[in-house]
Amino acid sequence: MADTVTITDNRTGKKVECPILTGVYGAPVIDTKTLYKELEVFTFDPGFTTTAACKSAITYLDGEKGILLHRGYSIEELAKNSSYLEVCYLLLYGELPTEDQFGTFRGHLNKRNMVHEHLERFYTGYLYDAHPMSMLIGVTGALSSYYHEAMDIHDPLDRELTAIRVIAKMPILAAHCYKHSVGHPFVYSRDDLGYVENFLNMMFSVPMREYTPNSTAVKALNLMLILHADHEQNASTSTVRLAGSAEANPFACIAAGIVTLWGSAHGGANEAVVKMLEEIGTVDRIDEFVARAKDKNDPFRLMGFGHRVYKNFDPRAKVMKQAADEVLAELGIEDEMLEIAKRLEEIALKDSYFVEKKLYPNVDFYSGIILKALGIPTSMFTVIFAVGRTVGWIAHWNEMISGSYRIGRPRQLYTGYEARDFTPLDKR
Ligand code: ACO
Repeated sequence: MADTVTITDNRTGKKVECPILTGVYGAPVIDTKTLYKELEVFTFDPGFTTTAACKSAITYLDGEKGILLHRGYSIEELAKNSSYLEVCYLLLYGELPTEDQFGTFRGHLNKRNMVHEHLERFYTGYLYDAHPMSMLIGVTGALSSYYHEAMDIHDPLDRELTAIRVIAKMPILAAHCYKHSVGHPFVYSRDDLGYVENFLNMMFSVPMREYTPNSTAVKALNLMLILHADHEQNASTSTVRLAGSAEANPFACIAAGIVTLWGSAHGGANEAVVKMLEEIGTVDRIDEFVARAKDKNDPFRLMGFGHRVYKNFDPRAKVMKQAADEVLAELGIEDEMLEIAKRLEEIALKDSYFVEKKLYPNVDFYSGIILKALGIPTSMFTVIFAVGRTVGWIAHWNEMISGSYRIGRPRQLYTGYEARDFTPLDKR
């Protein structure tokens, strides 16, 4: 039996045979590249619900079964046994590092963990209460100005250096967004601290006293970064790939990814979840909000519920939920918000609307509770997500540029005016 699909245009009887391509896992894909040539038609798939836009060997997820693998390793195992930097190495290079490789990688990152002093001046252009994501977009875009002419994106070594630079510098940019918003002096990166400890130090240390990051915070943040490191062809990663396909500067591509991530349907949901839980306020108001989420005439949605791909529990949400319990217990915090979140989850998971539509809590449902417990302000939640996702973005960019690619250029179904004559201004 041929591995093909035959598409017949029933208007003309013309046929085209399209190859079926099979990956290691997941639904096979129909290669429709010859459709236009043979039948003069395009495919129509708004929101890319059934379109595979690339081949990729980085991450696999099965939304029906709730499976997420990075380079073949399950997210549960990575969350339990590894560090964020190990996951970065795995995503970038395809294998877990040996001790030597890991030491070298960390050395490379340390060598690049400064930003040009001029970049710091960009922050002063922002009001103290500007959303940190808007600052992060600006300053990440500005990084492209330091690394442009001298960089050749077709040189693998330049691409590797770019990945190292962006992973090393993103925590600095992120922490400085926070420091600017509270009016504290910027704190330089330190080689003697681990990646997460260094980030917390840049966020919370002040010149007047010693600061030692709490071990619970380090553990929780390390986990959070691992869980956010990559997620296949999501909206922000697809944005980075699309910008990259035009051969734009990679730092500018990452800035484009941050733009997309900020949306409340994507990474901005972690902030939106906390705002929603605060708005609900007490357990007895949950039913009212669930009813609103189900009402077709009300634009309100339960933030942190639903996913384009997961039609089962988001495996990251399970890990995050357990971590939220542990963090609150270890820090001795009693947060009514967690109670509301748990009750909301219980109620929604039994409700026929959510059951039928397979709407489960996603990764953002519990991450906000952890970040809040660590003393991280709500507006910084998506910034932390961006720090974690940076490696995923740059790994996908690198994979694309190192293989064969074409500029991303979707088609459309035109629904505007037919051709018409221009009427001069005085005749309209
Ligand atoms: N609350 C209430 N109803 C919902 C929700 C929700 N959170 N999510 C989806 N639905 C309903 C939709 O109204 C739709 O109903 P219909 O079939 O009767 O029209 C149905 O479920 C399917 O939803 P779509 O919007 O078609 O699903 P899509 O795959 O396009 O969207 C998304 C996925 C954006 C995540 C959506 O579920 C959502 O808005 N969730 C809330 C925001 C959120 O938590 N985003 C974070 C995603 S995870 C991440 O990016 C890290």
